Amino acid sequence: MCGIVGYIGQQDAKKILINGLKKLEYRGYDSAGIGLLNQSGVHVFREKGRIADLEAIVDWKITASVGIGHTRWATHGEPNRENAHPHQSASGRLTLVHNGVIDNYEKLKEQYLVGVQLKSDTDTEVIVQLVEVFIGEGLEVAEAFRKTLSLLHGSYAIAMIDAETPDTLFVGKNKSPLLVGLGEGFNVVASDAMAMLQVTDQFVELMDEEIVLVKKDAITIETLDGKMVKRDPFTAELDASDIEKGTYPHYMLKEIDEQPAVMRKLVTAYRDDNGDIKLDQNICEAVKAADRLYIIAAGTSYHAGLVGKQLLERIAGIPTEVHIASEFAYNMPLISKNPLFIFISQSGETADSRGVLVHVKKLGFKTLTITNVPGSTLSREADYTLLLHAGPEIAVASTKAYTAQIAVLAILSVATAEAKGLQPKIDLMKELSIAANAMQTLVDQKEMIEDIARKYLSTSRNAFFIGRAVDYYVALEAALKLKEISYIQAEGFAGGELKHGTIALIEKGTPVIAIATQFHVNGNIRSNLKEVTARGAHACIVSMEGLNEAGDQIVLPEVHDALTPLVSVVPLQLLAYYAALHRGNDVDKPRNLAKSVTVE
Ligand code: G6P
Repeated sequence: MCGIVGYIGQQDAKKILINGLKKLEYRGYDSAGIGLLNQSGVHVFREKGRIADLEAIVDWKITASVGIGHTRWATHGEPNRENAHPHQSASGRLTLVHNGVIDNYEKLKEQYLVGVQLKSDTDTEVIVQLVEVFIGEGLEVAEAFRKTLSLLHGSYAIAMIDAETPDTLFVGKNKSPLLVGLGEGFNVVASDAMAMLQVTDQFVELMDEEIVLVKKDAITIETLDGKMVKRDPFTAELDASDIEKGTYPHYMLKEIDEQPAVMRKLVTAYRDDNGDIKLDQNICEAVKAADRLYIIAAGTSYHAGLVGKQLLERIAGIPTEVHIASEFAYNMPLISKNPLFIFISQSGETADSRGVLVHVKKLGFKTLTITNVPGSTLSREADYTLLLHAGPEIAVASTKAYTAQIAVLAILSVATAEAKGLQPKIDLMKELSIAANAMQTLVDQKEMIEDIARKYLSTSRNAFFIGRAVDYYVALEAALKLKEISYIQAEGFAGGELKHGTIALIEKGTPVIAIATQFHVNGNIRSNLKEVTARGAHACIVSMEGLNEAGDQIVLPEVHDALTPLVSVVPLQLLAYYAALHRGNDVDKPRNLAKSVTVE
């Protein structure tokens, strides 16, 4: 994972790099560092921990108009200062940052770096040492850089500075995302446009196996095998204020609160002037033509995919399978004759999902990406894209992207049903607006939900969420939310399955939170809750109006039964938020995690 930035121009690079890294912290926050180049040479500052820890050790008196920066999610080597980027070549001439994983770094080390004393455990240091070795063999730095990159197997986004070539940033990319930002008298590089919106909104995309020489007033893009590339810039349509927290204490809370607005935005984005669903007919035709849909995703997006399966089967009548991307890649099921692959990914960059995309494209299958990030790798590489319109999601724990994914899957289901000539029994745009109002009611009940978090989750070491039918899928998401930010060991379970083993874990006081939004299983889930209460569980129930009973702790406003996950998840997101807050955890940046996982 990791995030990288670079600047070359006339202003002081330091502030721009550090501000940029703050916007990339979602990509990893094990350590951070910057390398600055000025007349007196290269100055490297690295620290374990967050960007704030780096800021504390930077010498603010040093000014430089060239620099690179990095925020790390450790893959090779402990998250300590020695392994923090930038890494330098033996002589100190070259300084480099890297996002990705080099699969053959040990081989390269054995083959080319015998006698070179490495200072870290990282794959990255091998890259910078290799460039220096090739310079030592007589190559110009740009050629040494190219030769090195052509030897690498794996993923990389790289930026390098050379003390002897102060007018150039050496940049390259394969699989990991990287953009070059264009300015007046300066240019920048970044893993994500968000990092450099402070200075420009003009960006050039880089493709795999391209290298770029970035100077302050020009960029030259070439393929690894030396072909010149011309590519026009695009304007990043991000509003800088979308990526600020404003008055919120955490991004996660802001993003939970934004969910009703996102629903309304989706209704507008996918509705025509007559109030009907507006969706690219090519997409509807592709879904309609498929004999089976294969949804591929990871984490929260996988949980949205489970809900999507139900919508696509129930509304559009197309058999749908949902697969965890990292499993599908190595344990592929039998594929139908005429499949369509649907990739769900907030970031559009998840390496596990991309691995599957590349593979199924080679097999000649059609692909659709549902993502929040236009221009992301998965979006660019799939045949079709549907956007989530959720605005930037910064908190590592995904909230508004999940509900947007479900809403877009519902829109896709209804649009496909209509294209098939079916008459879906749901006025979706109206029902999504009702769901938006229900979400608003729930986000306005924060105090009540905080009390429940205090009562049920303040000291518990584990917790269970149970549900049946679509509520089971929400239980999985609720458990993921709780564990990733509160560190409480949480499990989502199908209500009926608990008694087949897992009920052994229920002790006096174990929190069990049941979700009951479905009429046909309301009685069953309530019986399952009684089974655990009889064994001492501390039971809490989230039910839907109309199905509620006296004593239910959270009652959701009634919405269409196909859309209940949009509302049932909201109090569960808030429960996770408050449980994490009460435990003093860093809600937006939970330990060991990163938002965009660009390594397999
Ligand atoms: C990471 C994040 C999760 C996210 C998953 C999939 O693990 O921590 O929150 O759900 O990646 O990300 P994607 O961007 O593909 O939806």
